[in-house]
This record gives sequence, structure tokens and C-alpha cells, in this order.
Amino acid sequence: MSTPTTTPAERPTFPIGRQCPYRPSADYAAFRAEGPLSRVRLYDGREAWLVTGHTEARALLADRRLSINARADGFPALSAEMAELANTGYTDVLIGVDPPVHTRQRAMLIPSFSVRRMNALRPAIQDIVDQRIDAMVAAGPPADLVAEFALPVPSMAVCVLLGVPYEDRVAFAGPARELFDADPDRAAAAMAALTDYFGRLIAAKEREPGTGLLDDLIADQVREGRLSRDELILYAMLMLIAGQDTTANVISLGSLALLEHPDQFAKLRADPALVTGAVEEIMRYVSLVEAISRVALADIEIAGYRIRAGEGVLIGAAAANFTTALVPTPEEFDVTRSPRHHLGFGFGIHQCIGQNLARIELELTFRTLTQRLPGLRLAVPAEEVRSNTTGPMERLTALLVTW
Ligand code: HEM
Repeated sequence: MSTPTTTPAERPTFPIGRQCPYRPSADYAAFRAEGPLSRVRLYDGREAWLVTGHTEARALLADRRLSINARADGFPALSAEMAELANTGYTDVLIGVDPPVHTRQRAMLIPSFSVRRMNALRPAIQDIVDQRIDAMVAAGPPADLVAEFALPVPSMAVCVLLGVPYEDRVAFAGPARELFDADPDRAAAAMAALTDYFGRLIAAKEREPGTGLLDDLIADQVREGRLSRDELILYAMLMLIAGQDTTANVISLGSLALLEHPDQFAKLRADPALVTGAVEEIMRYVSLVEAISRVALADIEIAGYRIRAGEGVLIGAAAANFTTALVPTPEEFDVTRSPRHHLGFGFGIHQCIGQNLARIELELTFRTLTQRLPGLRLAVPAEEVRSNTTGPMERLTALLVTW
């Protein structure tokens, strides 16, 4: 059996920080040199496995002996806020449940996320992207691309997906953010406010059906007695949260990466057909979700290592995305390639259910930004662009641009 080369006293802490906001740490190379699995120390002092090999990461994400149950002992939360989420009920659907419950829940949602259904949203999403650019152009440069574009586009797109009026965002935007608050009372109050909002929305939709994922679920599942209203509220909350911040962060970090690589920006501007593939390279290079948490339900032997039942496992998606298993020159940002097997949307049964929607949002975003604002550039030095890390995700505070 292989063993980690570090002793318990020497374990590096995880997350390890990023090289710059849009680029994961170069230190992952040292982890990979040690072997595909390493031991790391978490914020609360506990240890977990960090998987940095691409083959091993995919194999473990597909392994049913790993659980996503955030309430299980040994589950490796990356921050106190992330640990607290398990107590809000947010992880009771999809993202925190194993089969067979997960299988039933996911099957219910899959029809609403088909490629055909997502493609039907294209015109609405293109309108949203155009409107945000029109507003920026009308106000004139400089603009904060995060506040003016990266945040509202996914927020509006998720509203279209769910069939939620965008005007209602005042009712859910604040509580959706506070659900992650470190203060358990604030997190609980946010949960109560969201439950109340969605409860009223669902009642209104039952009286007067509209078009959207919630309307599908009411017609196909709630009316048939297969889904309770309480569960439906949790689905709505999950989509709202899983679909907004993630996409907003990839838009802002991807834009920063492109602005810092003007040659790559120029290639997209010159050939808009490249954008579909470039979205995969942006997902790989930005590697927004650095690690995916799981806990072992049984002993697992992999690549000569033994993971014991009850141990936490972090699938290092960012580390795996920078291996030659994926692209020949992983350190380069090259928008002319399309690395299909990156782990930016995860892999296995929990692989992002919204990935087709996210891909459309990213494609329309980067195509339209490069075509309509061909002179787009940073309005401040890159070193002044501020970001922060929440759990496994990096978020830009603001991105001042001009054109
Ligand atoms: C670029 C944007 C996005 C990124 C980077 C992203 C990333 C991810 C990742 C890595 C996972 C797997 C988590 C795990 O295995 O533990 C995931 C799952 C999930 N994502 Fe996304 N996501 C994005 C957009 C979206 C959108 C737009 C939606 C919905 C509207 C969405 C909804 C979900 C849901 C519900 C799950 C849980 C699926 C399950 O457990 O079966 N995501 N996402």
C-alpha cells in the first residue's frame, strides 16, 4: 500500500489558496508529484484525502462507496459556513443525498433540464445578455462587470428556468445570500424567509400555472402526489443558489482570464465559432469549484492507497483539471481547444444538472461580450482586482472594465 509522504504534523492545509483569482494554485503540481492521493488538514484541524490525479478523481466520483451526506461524521467541509449548510435543510435534496433517494429526486428533474428544453431558453438568455450590455453601454465606461453583468445574467436566467418573476428578486436575493451566513440564527432566518417566499409562489402557481421548472414539477409530481410542497420548496432553493453564484463567478473569473490574455480574447473576437469550445477551456482553466467533498462508507483501495470507511475525501477538481491526462499543455490558457473531460461540473451521479444551462449562459456571454465590446479591457491594474474564497469557490468582489 502507498502511504502519504507527509507526517501528520506536516500536513498542508486545504484550501491551499489560488495563484491569482482566475487560476488555481501552482502548488497542486507538488501534490501530484507526491502521488494521486495526498493527506491535507482542514480548517477545523481534521484530516482528509486530497485526490489530484484525473483518473482517480473520476473513478472516485463514480464510486458508490463514497457518500455526499454532509451530516455524516468525517464529511470534509471546507469552512465553518459550509459545515453549517448541512443544518439548514439545503442539502436534503440532490446535493446532500445518496441513492436511492437521490436517484428518485434526480429522475424527477431530468426532463426539465434536457438539451431541447435548455435550447428553448436560448432566445430569452440572449435577450438578458443583450439588455445588460445595452445598459452598460448606455451608462458609459467604466463599469463593474460583476455588478452590472456577471451577477444579473445568471440570476435572471435562473428565474426564467424556474418560472419565477425577476421582480421578486428583492424577496429572495438577500435571504439566498444569508443562507450561507456563519451566524446560525441569520442562516435559520434566511431559510424561513425563503420557505415563506417559495410557499407563496407555489400556491400562486397552483392557482394560475405558468411555464417553468416549478410549473412542470407542480403538474407532473405534486398533483400526482409524488412530491410534497415542502420538498418542492427545497428544489427551488437549491436551483436558485446552485445556479446563480456558480455561473456568476465563472463569468467574472473567465472575463478576467480573457482580459489578462488579450491574444485569447482577440481569437474569440475574430472567430465567434470558437466560443462553444472555449467555454470548456474557460471552465477547466478557471476551475471554480476547487474540490468536491465526499466521505467513505467502506474501505476503498485505489492506486495503491487505502481510504478507510469514515474518512473524508476531497476530489481535487482544480488539480485534476491541470493534468496532461486532459490537455497536453495544462498550464496554458488556449481558447482554441475544447477539453471535454474537465471536472468543472463534477462527474458521476451528482454531475451538475444545470450544466447545459450554464454552458448556454457562458457561450452567449463570451460571444456577445467579445462581439459587442471588442475593445473591452481592465480599467484598473489586475493586482487591484479583489476576490474572496467561500468554501470551495472563488468570487470576484468587483471587476472594473472599460471599452
Ligand atoms: C458554471 C456554472 C456552474 C458550475 C461551475 C457548477 C458546478 C457544479 C458541480 C461541480 C457540481 C457537482 C457537485 C458534487 O458532485 O458534489 C454541481 C452540481 C449541481 N449543480 Fe451546478 N454548476 C453550475 C451551474 C449550475 C446551474 C445553472 C444550475 C441550475 C440551474 C446548477 C444546479 C446544480 C445542482 C442542482 C447540482 C446537484 C446535482 C446532484 O446532486 O445531482 N448548477 N454543479
